[in-house]
Amino acid sequence: MRSVGVIGAGQMGAGIAQVSAAAGYHVYLSDLDLEKAEAGKAGISKALDRLVAKEKMSRNEADTLLSRIEPVANYEPMADAGLIIEAATEREEIKRKIFESVGKILGHQAVLASNTSSIPITRLSQASPDPTRFIGVHFFNPVPVMGLIEVIRGLATSDGTVKVIETYGAALGKQMVYANDAPGFIVNRVLMPMINEACFALGEGVASIRDIDTACQLGLNHPMGPLTLADFIGLDTCLEITNVLLTSTGDPKFRPAPILQKYVEAGWFGRKVKRGFYDYSGEIPVPTR
Ligand code: 3HC
Repeated sequence: MRSVGVIGAGQMGAGIAQVSAAAGYHVYLSDLDLEKAEAGKAGISKALDRLVAKEKMSRNEADTLLSRIEPVANYEPMADAGLIIEAATEREEIKRKIFESVGKILGHQAVLASNTSSIPITRLSQASPDPTRFIGVHFFNPVPVMGLIEVIRGLATSDGTVKVIETYGAALGKQMVYANDAPGFIVNRVLMPMINEACFALGEGVASIRDIDTACQLGLNHPMGPLTLADFIGLDTCLEITNVLLTSTGDPKFRPAPILQKYVEAGWFGRKVKRGFYDYSGEIPVPTR
């Protein structure tokens, strides 16, 4: 396999494009339009500049990596890609539309994958032309830093499709784990209840935002506290995944904390809007409560 298609040039899609190009694949990067795909590539270019400045990468390596990323206006150029990964907005109807369109140009041997964090793979595969060649590949943010890929088989996914992902994941240098097509797979099944519990603790006045984060960061040796991490992931995303866990299991232990819902209702989605549990408008994040 020489080329990979990536659909969605946001944070996750751009990260996947970057690590795929670093592994030597030619990458077709698409988004709603060419301008957005090019903006995704420009973001990758900035990230590489930082690596060059820190002497983690030579200018030459960065230029070679960038030259392998081709922003495209539509899916047609992806017809020769051995693997197409969808990393678009986490909305089922958007993803289904993408699979229907890209399905028309998907090569006869090619694999179609989704980076969904919470939508069942078997259900999504129904919008693809061949569910045997459909699979979940769940990357983590920031993609270039995080060493894991969760691999999720749908009911019909073939062994050959899993092999394609194993070869690809190994080329990227990522560790792969296998999860069944169950709500939240592994990481979000464990992570979202932790974040949600931190929100309950905050709402019940157990401790301040800062102290909940410091306690978990230093007491559990996590790189960031749960409320900082929630802001990093996006509070809207955390709420959405928690709701998926609740509705698909019916287990009340997954009910979202009222304060999480409140912040989302206020549009305080976290870092991407500069306000969540912390205010990011200044140089140092300041707790909002
Ligand atoms: N792209 C590339 N490299 C990056 C980066 C990015 N966006 N962000 C940070 N880095 C690199 C830095 O260059 C630095 O590299 P170096 O150590 O070689 O110099 C290294 O990562 C550490 O970065 P910083 O010193 O800037 O900052 P931190 O030490 O605070 O680390 C962090 C930042 C890597 C984000 C760390 O805090 C962390 O690991 N946090 C937890 C992240 C996490 O849990 N992600 C998973 C979220 S869940 C998910 O994605 C699933 C979804 O479905 C919800």
